[in-house]
Amino acid sequence: TVKGVIFDLDGVLVDTAIFHFQAWKQLANSLGFDFTEKQNEQLKGVSRIRSLELILAWGGISKTAREQELLANQKNSWYLDLVNKMKPGDTLPGAIELLTCLKENNYKIALGSASKNALLILERTGIVNFFDVIVDGNTVTASKPAPEVFLKGAKSLNIDSAKCLVLEDAQAGIDAARAAGMYVIGIGKYSGLTGANCLINNLNELLED
Ligand code: BG6
Ligand code: MG
Repeated sequence: TVKGVIFDLDGVLVDTAIFHFQAWKQLANSLGFDFTEKQNEQLKGVSRIRSLELILAWGGISKTAREQELLANQKNSWYLDLVNKMKPGDTLPGAIELLTCLKENNYKIALGSASKNALLILERTGIVNFFDVIVDGNTVTASKPAPEVFLKGAKSLNIDSAKCLVLEDAQAGIDAARAAGMYVIGIGKYSGLTGANCLINNLNELLED
């Protein structure tokens, strides 16, 4: 039976995928090419620097490591302009209700995110106190689909992987959770996600019974 629940952040608890898209699009446009929502789908769960590498390849542009660092910083500063407008309650449907329900029923709760901005986002949206453990892009070396982020979460919660449930909206994240030997619920029924134990449209569907 499940004792711990590990949440992805972007696209599961908060609607920040659109902010990532806007900031990457601004960066691509500043370099003279476009960036589509379809391409953005492929960046879900993917680290900032790996996302930049993919975008530069799509734009047919090559940059030195130093230039890439500056471009990643530029994108992040545009992204943070959007994040800094977030307020308590700016969470996806069902998120606060589910976190509250899990807490009341004594489940342990962890965050398992690729983002280096995770703590800021949890604080701004007012949900940081629900989390027993936060594993994010600052603590993980091998990005999703590597299982590290979720294995670290389970270890810090002191719960067996086999007793952890992961909630994910990204294919890389579903693959990471499976590789960690966990149950995984995919968010986005019509998004073409594969390999999850089940798919739902949003967190409200977990609250119905
Ligand atoms: C993931 C997002 O949660 O975090 C990706 O799905 C993003 O789109 C990644 O690139 C890294 O985020 P950040 O905030 O460190 O740039
Ligand atoms: Mg996500």
